[in-house]
Amino acid sequence: MAEEKKLFKVTIDNITTEVEPGTTILMAARKIGGDIVPPTMCYYSKLQNTGGYCRTCLVKVTAGSTADPRPMPKLVASCRTAVMDGMVVENITNPAVLEARKGVVEFLLINHPLDCPVCDQAGECDLQDLSYEHGTEGTRSEFRRRTFERIDIGPYIQLHMTRCILCYRCVHTANQVAGSREHGVLDRGDHAQIATYIQQSLESPMIGNVIDVCPVGALTDRTFRFKNRVWFTKPMDAHRDCPHCKGSVRLWLRGDDVLRVTARKDQWGEVEDWICNECRFEKKKVSDWVIEGPTQLNRHSVINAGHYTNAAKPTEFLKEVMNGHAPRLLLDIHTVSGVNMVDLNDLPGPATGATFNGNPNAFGHNPTDVKEGVGRNMAGTDSTNPNTP
Ligand code: SF4
Ligand code: SF4
Ligand code: FES
Repeated sequence: MAEEKKLFKVTIDNITTEVEPGTTILMAARKIGGDIVPPTMCYYSKLQNTGGYCRTCLVKVTAGSTADPRPMPKLVASCRTAVMDGMVVENITNPAVLEARKGVVEFLLINHPLDCPVCDQAGECDLQDLSYEHGTEGTRSEFRRRTFERIDIGPYIQLHMTRCILCYRCVHTANQVAGSREHGVLDRGDHAQIATYIQQSLESPMIGNVIDVCPVGALTDRTFRFKNRVWFTKPMDAHRDCPHCKGSVRLWLRGDDVLRVTARKDQWGEVEDWICNECRFEKKKVSDWVIEGPTQLNRHSVINAGHYTNAAKPTEFLKEVMNGHAPRLLLDIHTVSGVNMVDLNDLPGPATGATFNGNPNAFGHNPTDVKEGVGRNMAGTDSTNPNTP
Protein backbone atom coordinates (compact mmCIF):
# COMPACT_ATOMS: atom_id res chain seq x y z
CA MET A 1 0.00 0.00 0.00
CA ALA A 2 1.33 3.43 -0.94
CA GLU A 3 2.56 5.33 2.08
CA GLU A 4 0.36 8.31 2.90
CA LYS A 5 2.21 11.61 2.55
CA LYS A 6 2.28 13.79 5.65
CA LEU A 7 0.93 17.25 4.88
CA PHE A 8 1.99 20.46 6.61
CA LYS A 9 -0.66 22.72 8.14
CA VAL A 10 -0.05 26.41 7.50
CA THR A 11 -2.20 29.38 8.46
CA ILE A 12 -2.02 32.53 6.33
CA ASP A 13 -4.02 35.59 7.37
CA ASN A 14 -6.15 33.36 9.63
CA ILE A 15 -6.97 30.87 6.87
CA THR A 16 -5.56 27.38 7.32
CA THR A 17 -4.63 25.02 4.52
CA GLU A 18 -2.60 21.84 4.12
CA VAL A 19 0.27 21.56 1.66
CA GLU A 20 3.04 19.13 0.84
CA PRO A 21 6.41 19.57 2.55
CA GLY A 22 8.68 21.78 0.45
CA THR A 23 5.85 24.09 -0.64
CA THR A 24 6.67 27.78 -0.33
CA ILE A 25 4.52 30.22 1.62
CA LEU A 26 3.64 31.90 -1.68
CA MET A 27 2.36 28.68 -3.27
CA ALA A 28 0.40 27.85 -0.11
CA ALA A 29 -1.20 31.32 -0.32
CA ARG A 30 -1.99 30.75 -4.00
CA LYS A 31 -3.68 27.51 -3.00
CA ILE A 32 -5.95 29.53 -0.70
CA GLY A 33 -6.34 32.31 -3.30
CA GLY A 34 -7.94 35.76 -3.02
CA ASP A 35 -6.48 38.95 -1.55
CA ILE A 36 -4.10 37.17 0.78
CA VAL A 37 -1.81 36.10 -2.09
CA PRO A 38 1.37 38.23 -1.95
CA PRO A 39 2.22 40.13 -5.16
CA THR A 40 5.24 38.90 -7.15
CA MET A 41 7.47 40.77 -9.53
CA CYS A 42 10.35 38.33 -9.99
CA TYR A 43 9.05 34.86 -9.04
CA TYR A 44 7.67 32.77 -11.92
CA SER A 45 6.32 29.32 -11.16
CA LYS A 46 6.92 28.10 -14.74
CA LEU A 47 10.66 28.79 -14.47
CA GLN A 48 13.25 27.37 -12.13
CA ASN A 49 15.37 29.36 -9.66
CA THR A 50 13.27 32.52 -9.92
CA GLY A 51 12.31 34.71 -6.98
CA GLY A 52 14.26 36.33 -4.21
CA TYR A 53 15.20 39.52 -6.06
CA CYS A 54 12.36 42.02 -5.83
CA ARG A 55 11.08 41.59 -2.22
CA THR A 56 7.49 42.51 -3.10
CA CYS A 57 6.27 39.18 -1.71
CA LEU A 58 7.45 39.91 1.84
CA VAL A 59 5.37 38.42 4.67
CA LYS A 60 5.65 38.12 8.45
CA VAL A 61 6.04 34.65 9.96
CA THR A 62 4.55 34.99 13.45
CA ALA A 63 5.09 31.32 14.36
CA GLY A 64 7.80 29.25 12.68
CA SER A 65 6.26 25.82 13.30
CA THR A 66 4.45 23.73 15.91
CA ALA A 67 7.79 22.41 17.12
CA ASP A 68 9.34 25.88 17.35
CA PRO A 69 6.60 28.53 17.50
CA ARG A 70 8.97 31.50 17.79
CA PRO A 71 8.34 34.25 15.22
CA MET A 72 10.95 34.85 12.51
CA PRO A 73 12.86 38.02 13.41
CA LYS A 74 12.56 39.71 10.00
CA LEU A 75 10.03 39.78 7.18
CA VAL A 76 10.75 36.96 4.71
CA ALA A 77 10.34 36.59 0.94
CA SER A 78 7.35 34.24 0.66
CA CYS A 79 8.45 32.96 -2.77
CA ARG A 80 11.67 31.57 -1.29
CA THR A 81 10.57 30.43 2.18
CA ALA A 82 9.23 26.91 2.64
CA VAL A 83 6.36 26.26 5.02
CA MET A 84 6.79 24.23 8.20
CA ASP A 85 4.07 22.26 9.95
CA GLY A 86 2.06 24.65 12.13
CA MET A 87 3.53 27.81 10.61
CA VAL A 88 1.49 31.00 11.03
CA VAL A 89 1.94 33.76 8.46
CA GLU A 90 0.57 37.29 8.16
CA ASN A 91 0.31 39.21 4.93
CA ILE A 92 -2.47 41.77 4.50
CA THR A 93 -3.45 41.45 8.16
CA ASN A 94 -0.09 42.86 9.27
CA PRO A 95 0.38 46.66 8.88
CA ALA A 96 4.19 46.28 9.06
CA VAL A 97 4.13 44.07 5.95
CA LEU A 98 2.06 46.59 4.03
CA GLU A 99 4.34 49.41 5.14
CA ALA A 100 7.43 47.46 4.07
CA ARG A 101 5.83 46.72 0.69
CA LYS A 102 5.27 50.44 0.22
CA GLY A 103 8.99 50.94 0.72
CA VAL A 104 9.80 48.20 -1.79
CA VAL A 105 7.56 49.87 -4.38
CA GLU A 106 9.24 53.20 -3.72
CA PHE A 107 12.61 51.59 -4.39
CA LEU A 108 11.36 49.87 -7.56
CA LEU A 109 10.17 53.22 -8.85
CA ILE A 110 13.22 55.20 -7.82
CA ASN A 111 14.71 55.00 -11.31
CA HIS A 112 11.53 54.24 -13.19
CA PRO A 113 10.42 56.69 -15.90
CA LEU A 114 6.94 58.21 -16.01
CA ASP A 115 6.30 56.48 -19.30
CA CYS A 116 2.87 54.94 -18.62
CA PRO A 117 1.04 57.26 -21.05
CA VAL A 118 3.20 56.01 -23.91
CA CYS A 119 4.33 52.60 -22.66
CA ASP A 120 3.11 49.50 -24.49
CA GLN A 121 2.75 47.64 -21.19
CA ALA A 122 0.28 50.13 -19.72
CA GLY A 123 -2.99 48.43 -18.87
CA GLU A 124 -1.34 45.06 -18.28
CA CYS A 125 1.66 46.14 -16.24
CA ASP A 126 2.42 44.40 -12.94
CA LEU A 127 4.33 47.45 -11.73
CA GLN A 128 1.37 49.73 -12.42
CA ASP A 129 -0.91 47.40 -10.45
CA LEU A 130 1.62 47.09 -7.64
CA SER A 131 2.10 50.86 -7.39
CA TYR A 132 -1.63 51.44 -7.45
CA GLU A 133 -2.31 48.93 -4.70
CA HIS A 134 0.78 49.37 -2.53
CA GLY A 135 2.64 52.49 -3.56
CA THR A 136 2.73 56.00 -2.21
CA GLU A 137 1.86 59.09 -4.20
CA GLY A 138 5.25 60.69 -4.24
CA THR A 139 8.91 59.86 -4.13
CA ARG A 140 11.49 61.14 -1.64
CA SER A 141 14.33 60.74 -4.11
CA GLU A 142 15.84 63.97 -5.37
CA PHE A 143 18.43 62.38 -7.62
CA ARG A 144 18.38 62.32 -11.36
CA ARG A 145 17.00 59.01 -12.65
CA ARG A 146 19.34 56.82 -14.58
CA THR A 147 18.57 56.57 -18.28
CA PHE A 148 19.60 54.27 -21.12
CA GLU A 149 19.25 54.31 -24.88
CA ARG A 150 16.75 51.87 -26.31
CA ILE A 151 18.35 48.82 -27.86
CA ASP A 152 17.02 46.51 -30.55
CA ILE A 153 17.91 43.04 -29.40
CA GLY A 154 17.26 40.93 -32.44
CA PRO A 155 14.75 41.67 -35.16
CA TYR A 156 11.67 41.36 -32.96
CA ILE A 157 12.45 42.74 -29.51
CA GLN A 158 13.35 46.17 -28.19
CA LEU A 159 14.80 46.73 -24.74
CA HIS A 160 13.83 49.84 -22.77
CA MET A 161 16.34 49.44 -19.97
CA THR A 162 14.97 52.53 -18.20
CA ARG A 163 11.85 50.52 -17.36
CA CYS A 164 13.62 47.32 -16.28
CA ILE A 165 13.30 46.32 -12.63
CA LEU A 166 16.06 43.67 -12.86
CA CYS A 167 13.80 40.77 -11.99
CA TYR A 168 15.95 38.27 -13.99
CA ARG A 169 12.86 36.55 -15.44
CA CYS A 170 14.01 37.14 -19.03
CA VAL A 171 17.45 35.78 -18.23
CA HIS A 172 15.96 32.56 -16.82
CA THR A 173 13.57 32.30 -19.78
CA ALA A 174 16.41 32.62 -22.27
CA ASN A 175 18.33 29.95 -20.35
CA GLN A 176 15.54 27.50 -19.72
CA VAL A 177 13.03 28.00 -22.55
CA ALA A 178 14.97 29.43 -25.46
CA GLY A 179 17.92 27.16 -24.70
CA SER A 180 20.58 29.76 -25.43
CA ARG A 181 21.37 32.89 -23.55
CA GLU A 182 23.24 35.74 -25.08
CA HIS A 183 22.07 38.32 -22.61
CA GLY A 184 22.24 38.74 -18.89
CA VAL A 185 22.65 41.27 -16.12
CA LEU A 186 25.94 43.11 -16.42
CA ASP A 187 27.55 45.24 -13.72
CA ARG A 188 26.32 45.71 -10.18
CA GLY A 189 24.20 48.02 -8.04
CA ASP A 190 23.13 51.25 -9.66
CA HIS A 191 24.97 50.28 -12.86
CA ALA A 192 23.32 46.86 -13.27
CA GLN A 193 21.57 46.41 -16.59
CA ILE A 194 20.19 43.77 -18.91
CA ALA A 195 22.60 43.67 -21.84
CA THR A 196 23.83 41.57 -24.70
CA TYR A 197 27.55 41.38 -25.25
CA ILE A 198 28.39 43.51 -28.32
CA GLN A 199 24.68 43.87 -28.95
CA GLN A 200 24.37 40.26 -30.09
CA SER A 201 20.97 39.36 -31.42
CA LEU A 202 18.91 36.86 -29.56
CA GLU A 203 18.09 34.45 -32.34
CA SER A 204 16.52 31.45 -30.64
CA PRO A 205 13.11 30.55 -32.17
CA MET A 206 11.57 30.72 -28.66
CA ILE A 207 13.13 33.99 -27.53
CA GLY A 208 9.91 36.00 -27.95
CA ASN A 209 8.74 34.52 -24.64
CA VAL A 210 10.94 37.01 -22.79
CA ILE A 211 8.39 39.67 -23.76
CA ASP A 212 5.59 37.79 -22.01
CA VAL A 213 7.49 37.12 -18.80
CA CYS A 214 8.70 40.71 -18.42
CA PRO A 215 6.49 42.22 -15.70
CA VAL A 216 7.04 45.73 -17.07
CA GLY A 217 7.41 47.36 -20.48
CA ALA A 218 11.16 46.83 -20.69
CA LEU A 219 11.03 44.17 -23.40
CA THR A 220 8.62 45.16 -26.12
CA ASP A 221 7.37 43.43 -29.27
CA ARG A 222 8.71 45.43 -32.21
CA THR A 223 5.85 44.21 -34.41
CA PHE A 224 3.32 45.73 -31.97
CA ARG A 225 5.06 48.78 -30.49
CA PHE A 226 2.79 51.84 -30.51
CA LYS A 227 0.21 50.07 -32.68
CA ASN A 228 -2.52 50.37 -30.07
CA ARG A 229 -3.40 50.59 -26.40
CA VAL A 230 -4.19 47.13 -25.05
CA TRP A 231 -7.60 48.16 -23.75
CA PHE A 232 -8.72 49.02 -27.28
CA THR A 233 -7.85 45.53 -28.49
CA LYS A 234 -9.98 42.44 -28.07
CA PRO A 235 -8.26 39.27 -26.86
CA MET A 236 -9.29 35.97 -28.47
CA ASP A 237 -8.00 32.49 -27.75
CA ALA A 238 -6.86 30.72 -30.90
CA HIS A 239 -4.67 27.85 -32.06
CA ARG A 240 -2.92 26.48 -35.13
CA ASP A 241 -0.90 23.41 -36.02
CA CYS A 242 2.62 24.56 -35.31
CA PRO A 243 5.71 22.39 -35.85
CA HIS A 244 7.68 24.29 -33.16
CA CYS A 245 5.27 24.80 -30.25
CA LYS A 246 1.79 23.82 -29.07
CA GLY A 247 0.32 26.70 -31.09
CA SER A 248 -2.17 27.77 -28.38
CA VAL A 249 -2.09 31.55 -28.28
CA ARG A 250 -4.00 34.70 -27.53
CA LEU A 251 -4.73 37.04 -30.44
CA TRP A 252 -5.22 40.74 -29.73
CA LEU A 253 -7.59 42.03 -32.38
CA ARG A 254 -8.73 45.42 -33.52
CA GLY A 255 -11.58 44.73 -35.91
CA ASP A 256 -10.24 41.94 -38.11
CA ASP A 257 -6.60 42.99 -37.69
CA VAL A 258 -4.39 40.79 -35.55
CA LEU A 259 -2.26 43.45 -33.90
CA ARG A 260 -0.42 41.17 -31.51
CA VAL A 261 0.02 37.49 -30.67
CA THR A 262 0.98 36.46 -27.14
CA ALA A 263 1.04 33.31 -25.07
CA ARG A 264 -2.00 32.62 -22.92
CA LYS A 265 -1.59 33.56 -19.28
CA ASP A 266 -3.11 32.02 -16.17
CA GLN A 267 -4.77 33.78 -13.23
CA TRP A 268 -1.35 34.70 -11.80
CA GLY A 269 -0.32 36.38 -15.05
CA GLU A 270 2.08 33.58 -15.92
CA VAL A 271 2.44 31.98 -19.35
CA GLU A 272 0.54 28.68 -19.70
CA ASP A 273 2.37 27.34 -22.78
CA TRP A 274 5.48 28.87 -24.31
CA ILE A 275 4.99 29.88 -27.94
CA CYS A 276 7.50 30.15 -30.79
CA ASN A 277 8.57 33.23 -32.71
CA GLU A 278 6.76 32.07 -35.84
CA CYS A 279 3.38 32.03 -34.06
CA ARG A 280 4.14 35.26 -32.21
CA PHE A 281 5.62 37.45 -34.90
CA GLU A 282 4.79 35.96 -38.30
CA LYS A 283 1.18 34.81 -38.14
CA LYS A 284 -0.71 38.09 -38.12
CA LYS A 285 -3.75 37.18 -40.17
CA VAL A 286 -7.02 35.88 -38.74
CA SER A 287 -6.96 33.19 -41.46
CA ASP A 288 -3.74 31.77 -39.95
CA TRP A 289 -5.66 30.74 -36.83
CA VAL A 290 -8.58 28.66 -35.62
CA ILE A 291 -10.42 31.06 -33.29
CA GLU A 292 -11.73 29.42 -30.13
CA GLY A 293 -13.57 32.42 -28.66
CA PRO A 294 -13.13 35.53 -26.51
CA THR A 295 -10.59 35.31 -23.71
CA GLN A 296 -12.07 35.25 -20.21
CA LEU A 297 -10.29 38.08 -18.45
CA ASN A 298 -10.24 39.11 -14.83
CA ARG A 299 -13.28 41.34 -14.52
CA HIS A 300 -11.17 44.03 -12.83
CA SER A 301 -8.78 44.25 -15.78
CA VAL A 302 -8.77 47.52 -17.68
CA ILE A 303 -8.73 45.41 -20.86
CA ASN A 304 -12.32 44.48 -20.07
CA ALA A 305 -13.40 48.12 -20.38
CA GLY A 306 -15.94 48.42 -23.15
CA HIS A 307 -16.09 44.68 -23.86
CA TYR A 308 -19.49 43.37 -22.95
CA THR A 309 -20.43 39.75 -22.47
CA ASN A 310 -23.86 38.29 -21.84
CA ALA A 311 -25.43 41.57 -22.96
CA ALA A 312 -29.00 41.33 -24.23
CA LYS A 313 -28.94 41.93 -27.98
CA PRO A 314 -31.71 44.20 -29.33
CA THR A 315 -34.07 42.57 -31.80
CA GLU A 316 -33.00 43.00 -35.42
CA PHE A 317 -35.93 44.57 -37.19
CA LEU A 318 -34.32 46.42 -40.14
CA LYS A 319 -34.41 43.38 -42.37
CA GLU A 320 -38.03 42.89 -41.51
CA VAL A 321 -39.08 46.41 -42.47
CA MET A 322 -36.93 46.21 -45.61
CA ASN A 323 -38.80 43.18 -46.94
CA GLY A 324 -35.91 40.83 -46.25
CA HIS A 325 -33.11 42.98 -47.76
CA ALA A 326 -29.86 43.13 -45.80
CA PRO A 327 -29.32 46.55 -44.12
CA ARG A 328 -25.91 46.98 -45.73
CA LEU A 329 -27.74 47.68 -48.98
CA LEU A 330 -28.74 50.96 -47.37
CA LEU A 331 -25.20 52.14 -46.91
CA ASP A 332 -21.87 50.67 -47.94
CA ILE A 333 -19.43 52.07 -45.37
CA HIS A 334 -16.53 51.76 -47.81
CA THR A 335 -18.08 54.34 -50.08
CA VAL A 336 -18.16 57.01 -47.39
CA SER A 337 -15.18 56.21 -45.18
CA GLY A 338 -11.65 54.98 -45.65
CA VAL A 339 -11.50 53.68 -42.08
CA ASN A 340 -12.23 50.07 -42.98
CA MET A 341 -9.65 50.08 -45.78
CA VAL A 342 -6.80 50.61 -43.32
CA ASP A 343 -4.76 47.62 -42.24
CA LEU A 344 -3.04 48.89 -39.09
CA ASN A 345 -0.84 45.82 -39.06
CA ASP A 346 0.77 46.62 -42.40
CA LEU A 347 1.67 50.18 -41.42
CA PRO A 348 5.29 50.58 -40.33
CA GLY A 349 4.32 53.41 -37.94
CA PRO A 350 1.23 54.73 -36.15
CA ALA A 351 -1.81 55.77 -38.19
CA THR A 352 -2.46 59.49 -38.67
CA GLY A 353 -5.41 61.60 -39.79
CA ALA A 354 -4.25 61.18 -43.40
CA THR A 355 -4.44 57.39 -43.04
CA PHE A 356 -8.17 57.63 -42.53
CA ASN A 357 -8.72 60.38 -45.05
CA GLY A 358 -8.03 58.80 -48.37
CA ASN A 359 -4.46 57.64 -47.96
CA PRO A 360 -4.57 54.24 -46.18
CA ASN A 361 -0.79 53.80 -46.51
CA ALA A 362 0.09 57.05 -44.72
CA PHE A 363 1.72 56.69 -41.33
CA GLY A 364 3.45 58.90 -38.80
CA HIS A 365 6.21 58.61 -36.24
CA ASN A 366 5.46 58.21 -32.61
CA PRO A 367 7.06 61.05 -30.64
CA THR A 368 8.68 58.51 -28.35
CA ASP A 369 10.21 56.54 -31.20
CA VAL A 370 13.46 58.44 -31.14
CA LYS A 371 16.98 57.32 -30.41
CA GLU A 372 19.91 58.99 -28.75
CA GLY A 373 17.99 60.23 -25.73
CA VAL A 374 16.30 63.18 -27.37
CA GLY A 375 13.86 64.75 -24.98
CA ARG A 376 14.97 63.04 -21.80
CA ASN A 377 14.22 65.06 -18.72
CA MET A 378 14.73 65.00 -14.98
CA ALA A 379 12.03 62.37 -14.55
CA GLY A 380 13.98 60.06 -16.84
CA THR A 381 11.01 59.60 -19.12
CA ASP A 382 11.55 58.32 -22.63
CA SER A 383 8.96 60.61 -24.03
CA THR A 384 9.28 63.83 -25.97
CA ASN A 385 5.54 64.19 -25.76
CA PRO A 386 4.78 67.51 -24.01
CA ASN A 387 1.89 65.84 -22.19
CA THR A 388 4.23 63.40 -20.51
CA PRO A 389 6.15 64.86 -17.59
S1 SF4 B 1 6.53 49.58 -17.32
FE1 SF4 B 1 5.39 51.06 -18.52
S2 SF4 B 1 3.24 50.84 -17.87
FE2 SF4 B 1 4.53 49.81 -16.34
S3 SF4 B 1 4.85 51.38 -14.76
FE3 SF4 B 1 6.58 51.47 -16.19
S4 SF4 B 1 6.04 53.04 -17.68
FE4 SF4 B 1 4.16 52.45 -16.61
S1 SF4 C 1 13.97 43.19 -18.96
FE1 SF4 C 1 12.02 42.70 -17.97
S2 SF4 C 1 12.16 40.50 -17.55
FE2 SF4 C 1 14.23 41.20 -17.98
S3 SF4 C 1 15.09 41.69 -15.94
FE3 SF4 C 1 14.24 43.58 -16.77
S4 SF4 C 1 12.16 43.67 -15.96
FE4 SF4 C 1 12.87 41.58 -15.72
S1 FES D 1 8.54 37.63 -5.88
FE1 FES D 1 9.52 37.04 -4.05
S2 FES D 1 11.29 38.26 -4.02
FE2 FES D 1 10.37 38.76 -5.92
